[in-house]
Amino acid sequence: MSLFKFPRTLYFQRDIIDSLQDILLKEGIRKVLVITDRNILNNNGKRIETALGTIEREYFTEVLPEPSIKQIQAAFLKLKGREYDAVIAIGGGSVIDFSKAMALIVSNPQADIGSISPFESLDLKTKLVAIPTTSGTGSDVSFGVVLSDDDGKLAMGNYELVPEIDILDPSLTPVDRNIIVPTGIDALVHSFEAIASNTSNVMTDALAERAIETILFNLDGAIRNEEQAKDLMHIAATMAGLAFSNSGTASAHALGHSFGATFHVTHGTSVGLFLIPSIVFNSQDPETMKKYLRICKLFGVDDMDSLIRKIEEFFRKVGQPYRVRELGIEEPAYMSKLEQLVALSMRDSELAFNPVLAGEEDLKKIFVNNY
Ligand SMILES: [Fe+2]
Repeated sequence: MSLFKFPRTLYFQRDIIDSLQDILLKEGIRKVLVITDRNILNNNGKRIETALGTIEREYFTEVLPEPSIKQIQAAFLKLKGREYDAVIAIGGGSVIDFSKAMALIVSNPQADIGSISPFESLDLKTKLVAIPTTSGTGSDVSFGVVLSDDDGKLAMGNYELVPEIDILDPSLTPVDRNIIVPTGIDALVHSFEAIASNTSNVMTDALAERAIETILFNLDGAIRNEEQAKDLMHIAATMAGLAFSNSGTASAHALGHSFGATFHVTHGTSVGLFLIPSIVFNSQDPETMKKYLRICKLFGVDDMDSLIRKIEEFFRKVGQPYRVRELGIEEPAYMSKLEQLVALSMRDSELAFNPVLAGEEDLKKIFVNNY
């Protein structure tokens, strides 16, 4: 059975955050828990406070990157209200994932947030509102929730965790290219992988193709902080999010996750590093190859070699590395981790969505050749 899940309402407009009170009242929301981080609070705290107007609110503003289960449990114990019409996440992927877990624990204090499964009803008693402040993760439209515990990352999901309302305001996105590039590249990789995934369909393909085209023509302008480019990048990242959360990501994410965890490299940079070898590997599948040939047209070329060169060119233009050596990692240090990189990738759940079955030797070859 194919299923397509997405937020019930999506608002998109620069500065729409300033109408937050009206939006919430229209949705029947009068009492909220706002979850964010220090950075957003420092840059936009006053603006958010004004925008909430008459809405009764409580804040939790201490979300850290890669939130842990312990942090969420500790935050829950500090809450005063515990009954909210909505939990509002204002931030990047970490804040949104934190908020998904918080919505669950607020609804059911006994819930085990370390074992969220797609097969059980979560019975949420509060709405989830996402206001993403980066253009890339897609967590604002997806069922996924990534938390950490003592043993590392926990990638979980449940369709009830797709935020009910998504508010896209590009005026909240960062001006720092060190955030714009990796998040934009992450969105590009989401789109390519949504297309390649063995659970893709024509609906996810349509969103992903248009997202690729939009990112291709606007990431550069977003880096220069051009308003229109940033607006389009914000919506393209959401389209990519809708595509991959209803399709899947594949080998570039599996390889990128293990590379990022081993060498402490940011998510978007890591998955971008393995996009080109994944495209080459997955083009062995005739159906995927057909789809890549459609993508060629978006890049103004008509064969795979030219597509690869165009992606390399694009990566150079925006400052995304496509070889491990570009990150300054010494070859012996990299090669000494090969076994670990392969083992971690083989265990990654995203590999199951790859259109071509990838074994240990295949992955090893990709890691070696991509140095
Ligand atoms: Fe990603």
